[in-house]
Amino acid sequence: MPVDLSNGKPLAWDSAKLDADTKAMLDNLQPNILQAHVRESMSLLLVHFGDGPDGRRFLRSLVPLMKSARKHLEEVRDFNRTKKSGTPYVGVGISKIGYLKVGHSPTRFTDNAFKSGMKRRKDTLSDPAVGAWEKHYQEEIHAIVLIGDARPEPVAATRERVLALLPKTAKIVGEEKGEGLRDAQGRGIEHFGYVDGRSQPLFLADQVAAESGTNWNPFFPLSHVLVPDPLAPHPSRHFGSYLVLRKLEQNVRAFREAEEALADALGLKGDDRPLAGAMLVGRFRNGTPLRLHGKPSSEGHPVQNDFSYRDDPGAKCPVGAHIRKANPRDSRDGGLERALGVMMARRGQTYGGRTDRPWDDAPATTRPTGGVGLLFMAFNSSLQSQFEFTQQTWADNPDFPAGGTGHDPVIGQGKRDVKVRYPKAWDSTKLSAPQPQVPQTVTMKGGEYFFMPSLAYLKSL
Ligand code: HEM
Repeated sequence: MPVDLSNGKPLAWDSAKLDADTKAMLDNLQPNILQAHVRESMSLLLVHFGDGPDGRRFLRSLVPLMKSARKHLEEVRDFNRTKKSGTPYVGVGISKIGYLKVGHSPTRFTDNAFKSGMKRRKDTLSDPAVGAWEKHYQEEIHAIVLIGDARPEPVAATRERVLALLPKTAKIVGEEKGEGLRDAQGRGIEHFGYVDGRSQPLFLADQVAAESGTNWNPFFPLSHVLVPDPLAPHPSRHFGSYLVLRKLEQNVRAFREAEEALADALGLKGDDRPLAGAMLVGRFRNGTPLRLHGKPSSEGHPVQNDFSYRDDPGAKCPVGAHIRKANPRDSRDGGLERALGVMMARRGQTYGGRTDRPWDDAPATTRPTGGVGLLFMAFNSSLQSQFEFTQQTWADNPDFPAGGTGHDPVIGQGKRDVKVRYPKAWDSTKLSAPQPQVPQTVTMKGGEYFFMPSLAYLKSL
């Protein structure tokens, strides 16, 4: 039976009743797509091939270091039962020019953003000029090798094994090191100090069953992340996913100053001051959603995600907050996110070391102005209608969801000249006087689009 990407039910990956094609799909799909792989420590190797056949051989030689999505899911199941650690993650992505280099035509891919490459999409995305990107992103990147694990040692050892396979004609044009950032309670956070990575589309039956909720259904069909691998031996059984990688530098000091300035402008005092930052992000630093609470709650781990924006015109969570812009859930038109199929599987990791404690209230002047940020990564079945749509049509558009909303305060790019009104207090329909938007504190330093092919394709090279 052909793999049903639009199935209205989550995939019971370990069911004895699974059909042969779906089994073959799981045995040939790379991990980290359907379910996040542990990647507390990460190395991303950006590779340039000087010679096509050598490049092909290198890609094929990585297969023994890789595992399938099924093997990964089995490792997760074992870990949950016995705490036995799994093996490191090795993922491989190939860019459009990478496919050309190894002698395969990218015309077989349907995604126009992928077929253009990120450099040529800079106007669509309001990105900085390519000349302003970090040097290694200005080069031709043919492939990416992602290595991840819970600990740095297995990453270092696996990285050595990958480098040992690199032919003399190829070079590593750049490397990114990801390192998980956690707050005092051990929750994963990003550099502005907010809990991150909580709201995800879930594809698998065991994951969906673990999330009880009535207001937000986290289940999304496989069609949100998988596409047939057009160059694999059997594209009806061999699947892959488009990966977007963007290095997003965060000016933490400037963001903290913006939070303080907004708290002053709204006259917030004492315990109410964190509301300013929450209005920008949509959650308090500890992950409490503004839609549900006006103060950080002691909600623990995982943080609440069972909410919709129904009945909240923006009095609780401003319509311009990052999480509401990037996922409007069902605030309008009966669920834009679901109707348009935008939700992508976010798999990013923070980069850059810190000596301060990102989650505390130390003065803004003690915070880094650069050198730290997010290696934004997400899997998409359509880069155009998922990642690019979110960035261009929602985040960078000051009129989404309505005129006067402003840019996404965290990731919006473009001139922020629209003035914005915020609720005067949590759950208040009284609005502040128009305020200048907070300045842009996230800078895109480079990136690329890749396709994560099936293992069957890599073996066939
Ligand atoms: C959620 C921060 C970049 C899309 C979040 C959350 C935080 C955050 C703190 C809340 C945690 C959660 O709900 O999972 C950041 C920072 C970024 C960044 C600091 C850059 C440095 C991006 C980009 C996109 C994006 C580039 C897409 C274009 C989303 C989405 C959610 C989210 C879709 C989930 C919203 C929901 O489902 O409620 N982000 N983010 N983020 N972010 Fe970002």
